Order: sequence, then structure tokens, then C-alpha cells
Amino acid sequence: MSTRIPLPYSPKVLELFRNPKNAGAMEDATVKASAGSPACGDVIRMYLKIVERNGEYYIEKASFESYGCAANIAAASVLTELVKGKSLREAWEISWRHVTDELGGLPPIKYHCSMLAVGALKRAIREFFKGKKYPEWLPEKPTWEEKQVIEEEKMIEKLYSKYAGLGGR
Ligand code: FES
Repeated sequence: MSTRIPLPYSPKVLELFRNPKNAGAMEDATVKASAGSPACGDVIRMYLKIVERNGEYYIEKASFESYGCAANIAAASVLTELVKGKSLREAWEISWRHVTDELGGLPPIKYHCSMLAVGALKRAIREFFKGKKYPEWLPEKPTWEEKQVIEEEKMIEKLYSKYAGLGGR
């Protein structure tokens, strides 16, 4: 018998985990970016199709691939819906807290799953402006959320290499 206690996910998380929206790679994406660590499997990749209208860039569509948990899949699903039709500037303002609220909340231990999704979006937006003039609303330095993702990636890599080194013991 399993001794694991199921996490108290909201009905929306469970629904989007079972039936995620915008899941899958995007063939004609303008830009894509990942967050997480391939070493342990918690990785999300975000695809954006970006169009220009009157000098402003808009997200025409967004999709994702997730190798994370139920919360990560649900967060990415909500996020791709939230950014659709938004300008990059508006999309940049979306926080992990916003995504978490849209999901009807997440258990605190799963906050990072939402941060990974938002981190991948922010990376994709930065990637888009690589080699272009940075808009004034895009900070040059990583935001708090971006730093969290970088910290987490470092921690996962460290843990993974530690336990990989124990192989066979
Ligand atoms: Fe790591 Fe959810 S993505 S536990």
C-alpha cells in the first residue's frame, strides 16, 4: 500500500493536468526557451509566435512542452492562455503569483513549478530581443523570478550530480 499523501491540488490544476491547453512543440515559433534542468527531468520549454503591429510586438500564439509535474503542466497551460494576444510588454508583467492564482492556488511546495513556467516565458522574451534594441521596459538584469529559476537549476544540477555519483552503492 502506498504511504504517499496526495497533494491538495485545486480542481483547475487537475483538469488542466488531464487536458492541458496548447501542449506540444510549435513548428512556426518565432522563439523558444527552456527553464529547468534536463538532468532531473523538470524542464519546461515555451514556444511563442510573435507578430509586429504598429511597432509593438504581440504574442499571436503560445505553446509548451513540459517534463515537469502536474502543477507545472497546469501552470504552463494557464500561462500560454494568458499571454495569447498580449504584447510582449504585457506578457512580461505576468508573475508566478498571477499564474498560481489563476490555477486556484498551488500547494507551497509546488510554487517553483509555476516559477519555472514564468521563467521560461521570460527567457523566451529575452531571447526574442537578442541582437535587437532592448525596449525600456525590459530590465537588463535578471528579475527576482529569473534569479529563482537560475538558483533552482543550479541546485537541481548539484543534487543530481551528487546522487548520480552514488550510483551502484
Ligand atoms: Fe518540479 Fe513541479 S516542476 S515538482
